[in-house]
Amino acid sequence: MAYEGETMEIGVIGVGAIGGTIARKLSANGHSVRVANSRGPGAVKDFAGEIGAAAVDVYGAVKGADVLILSIPFPAVEKLPADLFDAASSDLVIIDTGNYYPDMRDPRIAEIDAGIPESVWVSKQIGRPVIKAYNNILAPSLAELGQPEGSPGRLAVAVAGDDTRAKQITMQLVNETGFDPVDGGTLDQSWRQQPSTPSYCCDYDAETMREALAAAVKGEAEKIRDNWKEIFGKLPANPTHADMIALNRSVNTPPSKS
Ligand SMILES: NC(=O)c1ccc[n+]([C@@H]2O[C@H](COP(=O)([O-])OP(=O)(O)OC[C@H]3O[C@@H](n4cnc5c(N)ncnc54)[C@H](OP(=O)(O)O)[C@@H]3O)[C@@H](O)[C@H]2O)c1
Repeated sequence: MAYEGETMEIGVIGVGAIGGTIARKLSANGHSVRVANSRGPGAVKDFAGEIGAAAVDVYGAVKGADVLILSIPFPAVEKLPADLFDAASSDLVIIDTGNYYPDMRDPRIAEIDAGIPESVWVSKQIGRPVIKAYNNILAPSLAELGQPEGSPGRLAVAVAGDDTRAKQITMQLVNETGFDPVDGGTLDQSWRQQPSTPSYCCDYDAETMREALAAAVKGEAEKIRDNWKEIFGKLPANPTHADMIALNRSVNTPPSKS
């Protein structure tokens, strides 16, 4: 299953700005998509109907799926049922889109503060390997700036993880949702695509994304993160997408590259 061009069974947990957009695109591409949030099938029924997906609960998103997109805030990861993956196929591909936003949106998580990569923490929480993808693109870019493969200046999305097959399938999905997949290395190396690193949510093409991933310096993003309130406070009221990209490029780029 899950060869290029084949229809896949895709579960999506979290149908907000990121998960909802991925679900919409993959359903439009002909995949069999089922969507869930924290409040049961009734709460996602309208959205599912709109995009041609099935409304399910979180167990229904996992059962029989080839791929699961996990697109929920970090505190919600800890609240997923402990037996969620008990009946899942051993080769279920789990794509984690998450980012840790301490003190802005999320409570502090000691292990991540101590330095473990965010998606390694997610993987430990759910007891399954994950592929990190779609975390370093802003929601409006994901929704509106996808282009067909080969388009000049096509934007890129970093994909990190350990399992070759799972990574290949994720890259295939990134490609068919309109973006150039760029290999971000192993899950241990996925800190290079976390918030406030040079590649983070800057609308870069594949070549610049590769350079930005390579330019990341361990520990620097955390220093920027400590000043987020001040940094984001400089944005105008109701910032535009262009304001966000300009800010990310100016703040996340190492001084030697700017
Ligand atoms: N927004 C961006 O530009 C962006 C970019 C890249 C990555 N990300 C990351 O991707 C993840 C999702 O972001 P988002 O912006 O799409 O979030 P969002 O718009 O707030 O949507 C979050 C979704 O998760 C669901 N959810 C929350 N708790 C849940 C639980 N316990 N079980 C199942 N579903 C649950 C919510 O539904 P209910 O609460 O209604 O159940 C909602 O559908 C976050 O980690 C975020 O940091 C965001």
